[in-house]
Amino acid sequence: MDLLIGNRRYTGSKKALLNDIYESITPLYKNKGVFADLFAGTGAVSAFMLTKGFNVIVNDNLRSNYVAYQAWLGKGNFNFKKLEKIVSEFNSLNGKKLNRNYFSNIYGGKYFSVTDAKKIGYLRDKIEKIKLTEREKNILLASLMYTTDKIANTVGHFEHFLSKDPIDKGVILRLPKIEKFTGYASIYNTDANKLVRKITCDVAYIDPPYNTRQYVNFYHVLENLIKWEKPTEFEGTSMKFKRNHLKSDYSKSKAPVVFKDLIDNLKAKLIVVSYNNTYFAKSSASNNKISKAQLLAILSRKGKVLVKEIKHKSFNSGKTDFKNHKEILYVCKVA
Ligand SMILES: C[S@@+](CC[C@H](N)C(=O)[O-])C[C@H]1O[C@@H](n2cnc3c(N)ncnc32)[C@H](O)[C@@H]1O
Repeated sequence: MDLLIGNRRYTGSKKALLNDIYESITPLYKNKGVFADLFAGTGAVSAFMLTKGFNVIVNDNLRSNYVAYQAWLGKGNFNFKKLEKIVSEFNSLNGKKLNRNYFSNIYGGKYFSVTDAKKIGYLRDKIEKIKLTEREKNILLASLMYTTDKIANTVGHFEHFLSKDPIDKGVILRLPKIEKFTGYASIYNTDANKLVRKITCDVAYIDPPYNTRQYVNFYHVLENLIKWEKPTEFEGTSMKFKRNHLKSDYSKSKAPVVFKDLIDNLKAKLIVVSYNNTYFAKSSASNNKISKAQLLAILSRKGKVLVKEIKHKSFNSGKTDFKNHKEILYVCKVA
């Protein structure tokens, strides 16, 4: 099976809603042009809009997500045969014969078996040492990251690891399936509120975090693996590195203020906002930070707003009953 950009477990991924998002745009905005995916997560929405003929701006504040955008959607040169040879060498390595390293010392026996963690850490170091183009490096990093995520001893994110001991699963990399698009992708790794001050687009797609659960807490292991700055201070048993600078304001009480700032500074003809209807969850951490009334009031200052409800079984952290979960699209045609 091909390895596609959306093939990962990602909280809030809109992989199942791609057509709904597209169909919310087409009746109101016939021309193609630039689609800005400001909180792009996996990048699956941007990849889909490229197949529909848009150019895309794709952004997320996590570096681990940026690397995937560069791998699948970037412009740089790469030699696929060379990458196949490298991956085949990587895959034939036996983790048992490797020395302990930074990655295995921190995460081995927790999120991964020690053998698997040794191989992940070894390969991450190796990627720094091989002569590669920037695109080739991002392709190998994305490939290592998707495998690391897939074999982790978790429920799908790294908020904590499972209490059972991790077993050897084997670190086998697969190369991304890289397609040619007619459009181009402009790729950023920054705060969405900073980015909107610099860009103009036709359609802006806004899919921020909805609740207090910080994305960097979900994906800290992948972020550490990709950045490879090798911090030495960690918090708690879940081994989270110090990451205050990566915490999102959209998961804090100031969410309505930053959302208003974003919309006020956005230069777009159509704005599509994804949010859900979780206001009374059993776990308060799952409750939305911006109320429906606030979303409507802020967007209505820009133009007429249509509200579309979509039934959706979301991937979530497992603590909340999402029986009546609905994903909501707020579509604003800017006046
Ligand atoms: C709901 S997820 C997006 C999911 C995405 N639409 C998909 O289909 O995969 C929200 C994303 O916003 C990112 N994020 C949070 N705060 C941000 C900010 N201030 N600027 C840019 N990205 C941010 C998170 O890292 C996370 O990936």
